[in-house]
Amino acid sequence: MTGPAKPVVVDTVQAVRFQVAQARCLGRRIGCVPTMGALHEGHLSLIRAARQRCDYVVVTIFVNPTQFVAGEDLENYPRTRDADLAACASVGTDLVFAPSTAEMYDPDSLTTVRVHRITEPLCGRHRPGHFEGVTTVVTKLFNIVQPDAAYFGQKDAQQAVVLRKMTRDLNFPIEIVVCPTVREPDGLAMSSRNAYLSPEQRRQALSLHRALDGVRRAVAEGRRDAAGLLAEARQTIKSAGPCSIDYLEIVHPETLQPLTEVDQTALVAVAVRIDQARLIDNLLVDPSGPA
Ligand code: PAF
Repeated sequence: MTGPAKPVVVDTVQAVRFQVAQARCLGRRIGCVPTMGALHEGHLSLIRAARQRCDYVVVTIFVNPTQFVAGEDLENYPRTRDADLAACASVGTDLVFAPSTAEMYDPDSLTTVRVHRITEPLCGRHRPGHFEGVTTVVTKLFNIVQPDAAYFGQKDAQQAVVLRKMTRDLNFPIEIVVCPTVREPDGLAMSSRNAYLSPEQRRQALSLHRALDGVRRAVAEGRRDAAGLLAEARQTIKSAGPCSIDYLEIVHPETLQPLTEVDQTALVAVAVRIDQARLIDNLLVDPSGPA
């Protein structure tokens, strides 16, 4: 039995345009999965979702320097090109766009894309400029690939909210599809940054999901007070080992403003630094949902 065909791999904007134009001429629906590589099951679930709903799937692999804040892990960010290409092939990718930084950014470029307000809380407060880097590169990728649909993970909840808003505000004719967080069997959200964790830190990192799930269960049992719920979740994370909590908040799922009462669907979002690794996770909790 033969598996899916190997993707065509290109590294120039011109080559992407050429390949995608051919697919479009054949009437194909184009799906795009933007990534920074170091692909794991979470990314593969996005590619599979694109494969189901689109006829031609483009995966972009680009470690985007403009979304890393000074002092972050740009240099050390895992780069696993061969494994990534094999992973793309295994789930049926038509085209991989893996450009260099020089191909993506003209040194004389003067333009960025900025979404206001919803980029300020949560990760925005701790990573100033990060979302402007994300929205700028995703705008460029949208203009280069011109997909019908683009796929992002719920694990980066704020990023998904910001990109949805940007797409609507700038009238991109692109459907934004947000796919559920993929977790390890023990609950840890899959992330390329999990590679930074020692076995002990890996065990400690489970406290993020434990804390979020604790909030979910308490809400299902009728608790509504955000401050009390967050205090308990904070305690769960702090007691698991040394770490620094960037934020742990219960917010409105679209405005990202803090809620004092969980009387509607709410996003519980957390970012924690364990040594070199900055981990994020989140859960949507629904007070009318099942326990
Ligand atoms: O989610 C990511 O991996 C990145 O932020 C994205 C969307 C590929 C932009 O560089």
